Amino acid sequence: MEKDHKETPFFTKLFEYATSNTISHDVPGHKLGHIQSDLLDVAGEMLYKLDANAPRGLDNLNRPTGVIMEAAELMADAFGGDKAYFLTGGTTMGILAMIMSVCRAKEKIILPRNVHKSAINALILSGAVPVFVKPSIDTELGIANHMAYEDVERAVLDNPEAKAVFVINPTYFGVTSDLKAIVELAHERDMMVICDEAHGSHLPFSSELPQSSMEAGADMSSCSLHKTVGSLTQSSIIISQGSRVDHVRLRSTINMIQSTSPSSLLLASLDVARKTMALEGETTIPKIIDMARKTRDRINEIPGIKAIDDKYFIQNGAYDYDETKLIVKVSDLGLTGFDAYKELFDEHHIQMELAETHLILAVLSIGTRQEDLDALVNALWELSNKYFPMKLRPILPKVKYSYPEAYTRPREAYHAPKKYVPLYQALDEIAAESIMIYPPGIPIVIPGEIISQDILDDFEFYQKSGSVILSDTEGGYIKIIDKEYWDKWSEIYEDE
Ligand SMILES: Cc1ncc(COP(=O)(O)O)c(C=O)c1O
Repeated sequence: MEKDHKETPFFTKLFEYATSNTISHDVPGHKLGHIQSDLLDVAGEMLYKLDANAPRGLDNLNRPTGVIMEAAELMADAFGGDKAYFLTGGTTMGILAMIMSVCRAKEKIILPRNVHKSAINALILSGAVPVFVKPSIDTELGIANHMAYEDVERAVLDNPEAKAVFVINPTYFGVTSDLKAIVELAHERDMMVICDEAHGSHLPFSSELPQSSMEAGADMSSCSLHKTVGSLTQSSIIISQGSRVDHVRLRSTINMIQSTSPSSLLLASLDVARKTMALEGETTIPKIIDMARKTRDRINEIPGIKAIDDKYFIQNGAYDYDETKLIVKVSDLGLTGFDAYKELFDEHHIQMELAETHLILAVLSIGTRQEDLDALVNALWELSNKYFPMKLRPILPKVKYSYPEAYTRPREAYHAPKKYVPLYQALDEIAAESIMIYPPGIPIVIPGEIISQDILDDFEFYQKSGSVILSDTEGGYIKIIDKEYWDKWSEIYEDE
């Protein structure tokens, strides 16, 4: 890092404005908190005073030339890139902007099938053609992990005209692919490398963590600072480096999907989170890793419960592992992760990040306290004391995992004529919507894919498990392409 990270240009100017007794005739309509509101009573007037909408001196996010630009330059320095863009629509927005700025309609992009829904939506908006790489599947834990280098290489060699390779660094569960090697492979063939670093904003700040996108040489990445380094929810960045990035196109794409009234609170929270990480990350992160390791050891003493470590993933082919993700396998107790997730919340006031069939996940971050990990370990002991003596049948791993086959581009399926059918009639039809459980928000099926029996079984299983299912359709129905009208429609409507 080359810059003075004690500075917080945007936050400092915002605070100056909030305390300046300026008479507000602009929006927002709460006029620096001169209203009655239940939120104001609870959160205080300062929350509203800091919620300003680009007054003089506070710069403009759509074309930064002042304090936002200075804050972004510090951000770029901290993340090891050349240029940073502040986002108030999360990494969801970052992924949309990156893919839309790189791929035009019918151009190819190589990406793992376990991408977040925002990448699928970017395919719909851009019209790009996905070349999916099947990620490594861990049947024991029931999760999808890294992409094997050989699989990416095959996709690159088979699709030399692809514009970019998209890599998740790390996955929700902390697993990474060999990003540096993928970057070399892609750059040799003039392809860009774009990263989803929603779960990896802390990576640039410690050598004990997997490589960050910028260290590995990627061109662009979007990072959810709100997930692991303490900024407010929805605040993210795009970080970029090198000469392959078309900044004019990227800026205009960001401005297309960014609000013209971005939240100053979110922007300020990015500025101060960067300062904290730049100044303290190197000392804080090793402490978090140490807490994670010790907590794993304690959890591994509990009968029927297992905490998964980096060695497990590396033995299973992962390139590296982010140890701040704490995966706890509970299915040997005869409970699903969904059962444990509910019980931890209902009976122990513990909110986990997510549940899957076999596991629950805790995300450790700069806000994690030792006492909160102690509470988790104690609650897991209680879970074990209750269920282990019952000798319930462990949940068996599902042996067969398959991803659906693509029939057409997501955008084509999105625009095609559609109809709604009950799930039991959907076998072998072409999906016209994405369906996912949230979290993690990774689609089970996306528009344009053929609905297989496995998809229908998964859907039924997740419905029964009480998971939050996100789809456009409710009540046991699914949106599919109406094939009867599709041919006629294609003759009239030439989709790009
Ligand atoms: C892998 C992955 N990518 C992208 C996102 C989107 O990030 P955000 O919540 O900042 O919009 C998420 C959100 O959970 C995610 O899990």
